[in-house]
Amino acid sequence: MDDKGFVWWKRGIVYQIYPRSFQDTTGNGIGDLNGIRKRLGHVADLGVDAIWISPIYPSPMKDAGYDISDYTGIEPIFGTLADFETLVQAVHDHGLKLLLDFVPSHSSDRHPWFQAARSSRDDPKRDWYIWRDPRADGRPPNNWLSEFGGPAWTLNEATGQYYLHIYARGQPALNWRNPEVRAAMYDAMRIWFERGVDGFRVDAAEHLTPDDQLRDNPPRKDWKFEDGPAQSLHRTYSSHQPEGLKIVREMRAVAEEYGGRLLIGEAYGELDEVMMYYGTALDGFQLPFNFKLIEAPWDPSAIADYIDIYEAALPEGAWPNWVLGNHDRNRIATRVGAAQARVAAMLLLTLRGTPTIFQGDELGMVNEMIPEDMLQDPWAINNPGTGLGRDPVRVPIPWDDGPGTGFTTGTPWLPLSSTTPVTVQANDPGSMLTFQRGLIAMRRSEPALTIGGYTRLHADAGVLAYARRHGDRTINVALNFTDRPQPLPCNGTPLVSTHGDFAADGELRPDEGLILGA
Ligand code: NOJ
Repeated sequence: MDDKGFVWWKRGIVYQIYPRSFQDTTGNGIGDLNGIRKRLGHVADLGVDAIWISPIYPSPMKDAGYDISDYTGIEPIFGTLADFETLVQAVHDHGLKLLLDFVPSHSSDRHPWFQAARSSRDDPKRDWYIWRDPRADGRPPNNWLSEFGGPAWTLNEATGQYYLHIYARGQPALNWRNPEVRAAMYDAMRIWFERGVDGFRVDAAEHLTPDDQLRDNPPRKDWKFEDGPAQSLHRTYSSHQPEGLKIVREMRAVAEEYGGRLLIGEAYGELDEVMMYYGTALDGFQLPFNFKLIEAPWDPSAIADYIDIYEAALPEGAWPNWVLGNHDRNRIATRVGAAQARVAAMLLLTLRGTPTIFQGDELGMVNEMIPEDMLQDPWAINNPGTGLGRDPVRVPIPWDDGPGTGFTTGTPWLPLSSTTPVTVQANDPGSMLTFQRGLIAMRRSEPALTIGGYTRLHADAGVLAYARRHGDRTINVALNFTDRPQPLPCNGTPLVSTHGDFAADGELRPDEGLILGA
């Protein structure tokens, strides 16, 4: 808590590290913990406050680490527990916070708990997962679909029952209605808190407690093939059940045992569903992820409306947050193009609420083409010909222009990035990296941007403008979403432009974003 009563994460910026693609130090082509430590200078120079690291626990890697076989260990590909302890110290020495990924809704099928559960209907761990008899004709118990394609159920021949998996079949759903599961998972959280972790990003919270009657999900009338097979049904009964909030509140109580460590919740859904996770007494996630900038059309009026709707829907006292990209969604620079990616960064870093930056977006990284024989993502592998899959956004960070782009001395697990590397961008005053460093420095130095109020000034088909105010200070932000000049709808002294320099008064240049001190 600072002297104005703001906890660090309200003023702070979160930076997501995807460990497989950050920095390899062993030559096996996959990033690791010592690599993260080696590159902390980049993170600190960027000016962010916290890193969230995607899963680093032991895993058969059926879903890039989101299939965990030991909740309290470290995956040998990434290093050792000693490496982790050294990393925690180094992160804190850089003045940064460390958030891990907590993946509660499913384990790996290689987890000893599931190995025991599948061995017999009478095993004491059987009820730790969700089992049901086949329907009379042998089909799965209901119509739920795996997010990665195919049914959400797999038959365990030996015991004659199906188990539920909302994701890959190697990710059986844990039964959170069982108090032993809850106790074991909360103990895992405590172990990491004891090891110095400052909080967690909680994975797939919408799937914690699927409907216990297992009612069929209704079909979606507006479904299109490109949405992917899993989207052909509404997730009415498989996700966002109110009981899930009770679990989230218990997780929060564990975080409170350690002085209010941070929980950021991932729960894709409608606005009211997302808001539910704050908890009625703000006793749920401090920050349920707000993904609307990922989902919304790149249109100033639509975004302005959404900001208003989101702000109005926040429960009293709740703190907002904004996300432009992550390891699951297309890169922002690919979605909107290089010029608009700067406008997008200015939007993210000037809105009211905690921003999360996905590694590489500070460089303007783009989606890369992945040859079929290098595909890693089960979503891509299970849905050939659909163009679905997340490998294109997960390629390694380009650190320099040497072999392996400074990421690895070996063969990288995914193709290398074509984006201009960090060493080159760092020496270029006009680069995306230099721009984003300046933007973050501006956000940090202006309380109006970190903790000030938000007021919409203008929104039409081309331009969004808003004011951020704190005390006597007003900062105006004007964003041109088009590649044509537009009238500047607000005034003030220009402080930062996406274009580096400042042009004539009263106008926004094509693709220009401006921060003005008013
Ligand atoms: C959300 C994660 O971000 C994604 O990468 C993963 O595949 C699913 N949850 C399942 O854990």
